Amino acid sequence: MKKERFKQKYGPWALIAGGSQGIGEAFTRVLADKGINLVLVARRKPLLEKLSRDIEKTHGVHVRIISADLADSEVIKIIKEHTKDIEIGTLVYNAAIIPIGPFLDFDLEEHFNVININCRGPVTLVDYFGKLMKKRERGGIILVSSMAGFQGNPLTVHNCLW
Ligand SMILES: NC(=O)c1ccc[n+]([C@@H]2O[C@H](COP(=O)([O-])OP(=O)(O)OC[C@H]3O[C@@H](n4cnc5c(N)ncnc54)[C@H](OP(=O)(O)O)[C@@H]3O)[C@@H](O)[C@H]2O)c1
Repeated sequence: MKKERFKQKYGPWALIAGGSQGIGEAFTRVLADKGINLVLVARRKPLLEKLSRDIEKTHGVHVRIISADLADSEVIKIIKEHTKDIEIGTLVYNAAIIPIGPFLDFDLEEHFNVININCRGPVTLVDYFGKLMKKRERGGIILVSSMAGFQGNPLTVHNCLW
């Protein structure tokens, strides 16, 4: 799709939850390449600051950063506050945790943390941004998962939680 058409359909801003490194950073760079402004959410602020400076310099798009924990049930309030004056045309939910080990060796709190990041987080963001996109009749949502979630593997029972 041509850059201008892509921007009309999926811009002018994209929010990438877990956008500071790895596959999330790759999404960040691809979208910046298409001229989309970015809101990057992750916990480690120095990494977000470094990447945002780099992207703004190399791609000439605007980048906002939100240093927050997606496992926090209040995170949506922070995200709403940082995005209330812009249109998010693309949502990428990329953050996930995959603890490896026997299920019963983890504390219950750790299981809930997996549910919060891998399940509650995407549902919350899709509910909020999806409804806004539906009203505008345009936009796109990408939920990053793993093939490992489709089958049973030893010591990876948490895979069924996303
Ligand atoms: N890597 C693989 O081989 C592979 C294979 C199949 C599927 N995947 C899927 O691809 C996605 C990304 O994997 P990856 O390997 O690129 O991950 P990664 O390198 O660990 O990056 C995860 C990103 O999410 C952020 N993040 C993690 N927990 C967070 C939290 N609680 N709150 C806010 N941000 C959080 C991280 O930043 P902070 O740590 O600073 O918060 C980082 O930006 C995941 O959904 C994974 O299941 C990966």
